[in-house]
Amino acid sequence: MSNKTPIAIIGGSGFSSLPELMRIKTEQVMTEFGAPSAPLLFAELQGQPLVFLARHGDPHIIPPHRVNYRANLRALQQVGVKQVIALAAVGGIAQACPPGRLVVPDQIIDYTYGREQTYFAENLAQVTHIDFTYPYTEGLRQALLQAAGQANIVVTAQGTYAATQGPRLETAAEIRKLEHEGCTIVGMTGMPEAALARELGLGYACLAVVANWAAGKSDRLITLPDIEKTLQGAHQSVNQLLLELFS
Ligand code: HPA
Repeated sequence: MSNKTPIAIIGGSGFSSLPELMRIKTEQVMTEFGAPSAPLLFAELQGQPLVFLARHGDPHIIPPHRVNYRANLRALQQVGVKQVIALAAVGGIAQACPPGRLVVPDQIIDYTYGREQTYFAENLAQVTHIDFTYPYTEGLRQALLQAAGQANIVVTAQGTYAATQGPRLETAAEIRKLEHEGCTIVGMTGMPEAALARELGLGYACLAVVANWAAGKSDRLITLPDIEKTLQGAHQSVNQLLLELFS
């Protein structure tokens, strides 16, 4: 996939910078919804212009329920981005999503609350409902899967992302409920990010990195050092996949 329109990468936990990015400049962009989480980093990967945004700020201090998702997506749109790849650390619920695995989800269920979740709330000329049957852009999902194949990286090609409120992790019973409802991975930032991208007409796909077994799915408790270690181990695969994506 190569085109000269800038593609955005929103980096999540453990992915607040990407080493191969050739930095061109940073720019603090302002929107009518406030400032995005961090200055936008303009960069190039294999000749492809990219805009990188650290979802939780740089340094990483904004928790998932406090991220200004509306400002983040609007800022990216304002600088000409048409497609967004969202990197996200998640917990694995299904057997096909063990720690360390990359997953490209195709569905999402929103369990968040109290977040600014739409651009269509104020100053409306008419009530607007976006179609959200398929929350991720299929062409972008397929490009990620193809890049994973070319880079020989094992990837789980489908999944249902449970977007939970956080910042606490879930109880074992909550994970059993999410599993019963069809969720295969769980994270805290998937919504409203995906819906806002759709409202703005941006292409959007998620590259999820499984950081841990979700609560109750292993006999261990979930610790931040374990999560960080797993994410660190996945860095190389993520970088290779992105290199392949833009080659
Ligand atoms: N639950 C929710 N969000 C997460 C998890 C989890 O287990 N791991 C990483 N982000």
